[in-house]
Amino acid sequence: MSTQQQEPESQESPQDPEMKGTESPQQRRLREKQEGMVEDQAEKETEVEGETVHLKVFRYDPEVADKQEPRFDDFHVPFEKGMTVLDAVMYARDEFDSSLTFRHSCRQAVCGSDAFFVNGKQRLGCKTQISDLQQPVRIEPLPHQEVVKDLVVDMDHFYDQMHAVEPYFQNDDTPDSSDLEEQRQSRENREKVKMSTRCIWCGACMSSCNIAAGDNEYLGPAAINKAYKFAMDDREPEDVKEHRLRILEQEHGVWRCQTQFSCTDVCPKDIPLTEHIQELKREAVKKNLKFW
Ligand code: SF4
Ligand code: FES
Repeated sequence: MSTQQQEPESQESPQDPEMKGTESPQQRRLREKQEGMVEDQAEKETEVEGETVHLKVFRYDPEVADKQEPRFDDFHVPFEKGMTVLDAVMYARDEFDSSLTFRHSCRQAVCGSDAFFVNGKQRLGCKTQISDLQQPVRIEPLPHQEVVKDLVVDMDHFYDQMHAVEPYFQNDDTPDSSDLEEQRQSRENREKVKMSTRCIWCGACMSSCNIAAGDNEYLGPAAINKAYKFAMDDREPEDVKEHRLRILEQEHGVWRCQTQFSCTDVCPKDIPLTEHIQELKREAVKKNLKFW
């Protein structure tokens, strides 16, 4: 069982109290999110050590007659310091019920496969410490997605939306000197898109979004963030940028976002999703401005 602690993500928010007056709304949210996590951990870390963790895990299997009715199963798992939600469900599967089904792979917040709805919030199982959670720990599949089995949801629609924004570099110009030379990005431009590149396709943001829940065609925060990465890349030519903005300003694109910040709150990689969506709205307005 892994006891590996996650390293803190890069510090994008001001830590100096004197800087708090100058921070943007996004930086304030990120700081509050990080401070809240630290305080929760300090408060609860010793509470469950040496005890068992009570899990309530969603169960459903459409292919087994007596499991077609959704229910919650209780598991009592021995707690170990550093135990994550993923560690706990793996223990439950390995020791109590081998039919318990969920996705996981890297166990270090890289592959994005273990996003669950834990105690009412979208979280990565491998990045969520059991000691940070109230018990019983309620673990469900991501809301607003079709459940395939237990904690596994159908991600096809999410992937379709990601592909709808053409998530690949589009520039036919090759450097003069050699066909194989890399197309370099300036340091400043790389800094601008840096956060958007951190997406691990976990689907937590899409699942938390009220707009996506009511509009199945809405591109969603992850896809728009992916488009942001390319739309802001200086190396793509103007006609490609216009093409990207046309995709983003369609009826189910950026204008559907109501700046509720739910996506930003749940993103395990702390990507400023709402900020990126607003910036693309401004770009779309600028593109359509006409001067007579
Ligand atoms: S933007 Fe964040 S929450 Fe959304 S899919 Fe990417 S990593 Fe997950
Ligand atoms: S197992 Fe890969 S992100 Fe959690």
